[in-house]
Amino acid sequence: MKVLHVDASAKRERSNSRALSRYFIERLRSEGVALEIDYLDVTVDTPAHVTEAFAIATYTPEHQRTPAMKATLAASDALCRRLLDADALIFAMPMYNWSMPSAFKAYVDNITRTGLTYVNTADGRYEGQLQRHKTVFITSRGADLRAGTPLSSMDALTPALKAAFGFIGVAKPTFVDAQPLQFADQSARAEALERAHRELDAVAAQWANEQSPVEADEASLTAS
Ligand SMILES: Cc1cc2nc3c(=O)[nH]c(=O)nc-3n(C[C@H](O)[C@H](O)[C@H](O)COP(=O)(O)O)c2cc1C
Repeated sequence: MKVLHVDASAKRERSNSRALSRYFIERLRSEGVALEIDYLDVTVDTPAHVTEAFAIATYTPEHQRTPAMKATLAASDALCRRLLDADALIFAMPMYNWSMPSAFKAYVDNITRTGLTYVNTADGRYEGQLQRHKTVFITSRGADLRAGTPLSSMDALTPALKAAFGFIGVAKPTFVDAQPLQFADQSARAEALERAHRELDAVAAQWANEQSPVEADEASLTAS
């Protein structure tokens, strides 16, 4: 399984979302899933912000683009290619100010591309091109924003991710939200991490189950 793994926390060794995404990958391996991983850290290789040149080039039909426009779009084209080449997507990020880290938003702005990750159909619809991709979002939050908690209405991260990725074809992403990890006592934090680990175990088992017989055979050959 070709996996695109994206991390987005400003923290390194102390990052919970990074640790959880690594844990998920280990769990997939121990479930017998053979992985080919393409790794992107958007805090290191941060995609460029949208510029005027980008805004013009991206909506110019491909056959009308000048060499300068093509050069403007080249890095974004490459990010889209990495996304389209993958079978599965793992996105790990903290909640910052109720939504996504700005480096990840810059990534979203680079991968939402007409003619690449979505196309305009003849009957006037938009069709996302990531419909076959298994997708998990692993998010870490300082507060507890689960349904029924006082801060639940502040969660602007989940709907933003659903909208952006739904538009490019990811219809049913899985969310594993570790919360509360900061603004809570030690036992609530430990429980939150434990819950996230168990949820990731279940997602790994599900992905392993959904492997085609050919993929499963390849995985067992690689393991033996
Ligand atoms: C700049 C910044 C903004 C944050 N904003 C929020 C927030 O709006 N809501 C929340 O619940 N936690 C917020 N947090 C806490 C982080 O989401 C939390 O500590 C998370 O576990 C960090 O993930 P990481 O360990 O992968 O970096 C914020 C943290 C930082 C550094």
